[in-house]
Amino acid sequence: MSEYILEMYNITKEFPGIRALDNVSFKVKRGEIHALCGENGAGKSTLMKILSGVYPYGTYSGDIFFNGEKLILHSIKDAEKKGIAIIHQELALIKELSVKENIFIGNEPNKNGIVDFDQMYLNAKKILQQFNLDIDPNTLVKNLGVGQQQLVEIAKALSKSASLLILDEPTSSLTEADVEILLKILKKLKENGVTCIYISHKLDEVMEIADTVTVIRDGKTIGTDSAKNLTKEKIISMMVGRELSQLYPREKHFIGEVFFEVRDFNVYDTKIQNRRIVKNVSFKLRKGEILGIAGLIGAGRTELVSSIFGSYPGKWTGDVYLEGKKIIIKNPSDALKYGIAMVPEDRKKEGLISLMSVKENMTISNLENYKKIIGTINENRELLDVKDYIKKINIKTSHFSTQVKNLSGGNQQKVVLAKNLLSKPKILILDEPTRGIDVGAKYEIYKLMFSLAKEGISIIMISSELPEILGISDRIIVMHEGEKKGEFENKNVTQEMIMQCAIGGRSNND
Ligand SMILES: Nc1ncnc2c1ncn2[C@@H]1O[C@H](COP(=O)(O)OP(=O)(O)OP(=O)(O)O)[C@@H](O)[C@H]1O
Ligand SMILES: [Mg+2]
Repeated sequence: MSEYILEMYNITKEFPGIRALDNVSFKVKRGEIHALCGENGAGKSTLMKILSGVYPYGTYSGDIFFNGEKLILHSIKDAEKKGIAIIHQELALIKELSVKENIFIGNEPNKNGIVDFDQMYLNAKKILQQFNLDIDPNTLVKNLGVGQQQLVEIAKALSKSASLLILDEPTSSLTEADVEILLKILKKLKENGVTCIYISHKLDEVMEIADTVTVIRDGKTIGTDSAKNLTKEKIISMMVGRELSQLYPREKHFIGEVFFEVRDFNVYDTKIQNRRIVKNVSFKLRKGEILGIAGLIGAGRTELVSSIFGSYPGKWTGDVYLEGKKIIIKNPSDALKYGIAMVPEDRKKEGLISLMSVKENMTISNLENYKKIIGTINENRELLDVKDYIKKINIKTSHFSTQVKNLSGGNQQKVVLAKNLLSKPKILILDEPTRGIDVGAKYEIYKLMFSLAKEGISIIMISSELPEILGISDRIIVMHEGEKKGEFENKNVTQEMIMQCAIGGRSNND
């Protein structure tokens, strides 16, 4: 048998107006974990969709060999039969169904032609246990957190006893603890001889887990090398085609008076009465300041900012002051009226209308800005702004009228960002703004944040990446289990100090 389980040669795939893959070749050795890296829109998901039957034979050109045999797939089911399973970048579970039903959908165990739910329960339990996942198979998926949903998705793929498992950005919404669980599962699968293709923008993870790394850029293969010959810096320069001399383009900006203040915020659980997720949090924000909010996932950061913005679905109390005056924000449109915009963490749910175009998504909530005196929309100016932002943050799209659902995952996020920037806010709240975004585009987003700060816009940024918090913020607050545990000027503060605070260690207010 050949040393390669998978060989893809000269794969070319076109969509209207765009060549997503241009003669890509990609080979994976049996039993290895092979990381596939590249910027947003490089073509990673497209290549994997070809390999997993989403784009069937005949819709692309080139040859694929699997276990030495030519691979011709007409459907996803075909791929599964051959032992190829994929976990997609966007979660594909049915929220109204239970965990066990989701795992076995289309493969239900049956007795005399009737679905055997007891057997299904037992089978699901076995799979979950095998990987130490503490999830009840009868739970409805909608009652699980995003991280656990992702783990169920993985369990589902594993239930198909795949010999080639593809994970397309599996960790973008996992907590640190769940990432650990996943990486352990992958190592265990590797011991059992399963081959794995792993797509991630988190290069630390890639360096930890991959045996081999392939980089693609603009639909072309740039190179493949063994991970031990590579460094993070090398992978980055292969991805973006140039050396990034620095990751955080810090720029001096003037920080003014206190502009916005949050006092005694308490946010309550939507399910358990009287349980507080945020406890008495207060903070101030100055004009032109970038305030970082650090903490572990689950610390209450998203709940805090979404209640400030008026989008939290449950109960909260607390006061908000803008330029010294108390303001009342009951819902997001109140917030927008006061010049407060927010880019939410779950962009898919809250940020985008996938059937609308890039342009419509960007301007739909900002049409006010383009009204001519007589009430018609000034389309020229609208278009200029849209084009300007597409260029500024490097949104990879064939045209501004392309439907957002046709953009790569990272580029969809950039559209949400652009939409909020176009609303010309005074205060911009960003919840994990660079999650799932490649290093080159991150750099562009940071540059944009600094230029906004220079214009006097105040920014609140939640981030779980400490280097990002330290690289970007002027001031940092750290939350732990709903409380503000510390506040630091971003001078002599280290990652260790913030981490200490985030895990509930000694409070450190300076
Ligand atoms: N269904 C589609 N219709 C039109 N264009 C598409 C479609 N799917 C992908 N594309 C385009 O093909 C290119 C490659 O997209 P792909 O999703 O493969 O990128 P990716 O490397 O997975 O990026 P990301 O890291 O952002 O997920 C992008 O320019 C994207 O806009
Ligand atoms: Mg992708």
